Amino acid sequence: MNGYRRPARLRRVQLSVPGSSEKMLAKAAASGADHVFCDLEDAVAPNAKVGARDLIAQALNGLDWGKTTRCVRVNDVTTQWCHDDIISLVEKAGRNIDTIMLTKPRTAADVMFLHHMIHQLEQKLSLERPIGIEVLIEEVQALQNVEEIASCSDRLECLIFGMGDYSASQGIDTRAIGEGGTYPGDIFHYARFRVTMAARAVGIDAVDGPLGNFKNRESYVSQAIQARSLGMAGKWAIHPSQIPWALEVFTPSAETIARARKLEAAYRDAEAMGLGAAQVDGMMIDAVTVRMVRNTLEKADLAGI
Ligand code: COA
Ligand code: MG
Repeated sequence: MNGYRRPARLRRVQLSVPGSSEKMLAKAAASGADHVFCDLEDAVAPNAKVGARDLIAQALNGLDWGKTTRCVRVNDVTTQWCHDDIISLVEKAGRNIDTIMLTKPRTAADVMFLHHMIHQLEQKLSLERPIGIEVLIEEVQALQNVEEIASCSDRLECLIFGMGDYSASQGIDTRAIGEGGTYPGDIFHYARFRVTMAARAVGIDAVDGPLGNFKNRESYVSQAIQARSLGMAGKWAIHPSQIPWALEVFTPSAETIARARKLEAAYRDAEAMGLGAAQVDGMMIDAVTVRMVRNTLEKADLAGI
């Protein structure tokens, strides 16, 4: 631990972009997504991985990313690429990297590999702005170890539930997944709930993984609403079409914000009069109400609304 102070970042949508595509990297930088992760893992073929490191570094250093959080997704610690992904990207573009995302960790020790590598590189390169960590929970062992993973490093900012690899890891029957699937109820509910609990318990973000069918707005919005309902901060996009859908779900509406402000003000008035509870439009409000509406108001502040 080095006393890293986690910056508050918007993660309503995290756009995945293949690091081997110069054209898509340029599109991603201009996409207006809160967060883009330049991928070196599954979106990049093995024979393109080494070349993709340079393309990503050039994009991070050369393009205007506006307010977008710039993240690099690296290969997992069991592969031949992980250490070189980290060294190469931080050496070439460390000043323009906000976070590094680790794929397929199984234990906290896997995450600490990345933590120590970043720490060493920051010292060697005299980087002044620290680099944060995000991790995918997409292995059965990772879900078992999720509390330990969530609290292992003060650089950790976000846990993402990756349902594709998770399904493969557990041996989930693909026919069970999605609406009309063979499993009664939502097969990912437990995992999403548990990942969100682990993240919120240590004050970091939980984010929902991708939906491959980038033309299906209805399914995307329904998954995003489920994630938001659990307390997740956002959802992945694998295609620019999904960005506005995520923003719509994860940005509190003007009406929701106005209601939150009204409830908070009413509670403060009650409190000033020495009352712990009051009513607004027939609804009881108390300290719990304020705690809940603070979540909405914090999201609004972060989004600059
Ligand atoms: N980031 C940035 N730009 C993207 C993009 C992405 N993730 N996905 C598509 N685009 C661009 C395309 O290049 C295209 O640009 P153009 O209009 O200038 O030609 C435009 O958006 C429309 O794309 P479209 O033609 O509908 O799709 P496609 O066939 O080019 O790409 C995929 C479809 C699925 C191959 C592509 O969306 C993709 O690679 N997504 C990310 C995959 C990934 O990262 N997977 C790992 C994490 S789950
Ligand atoms: Mg994966």
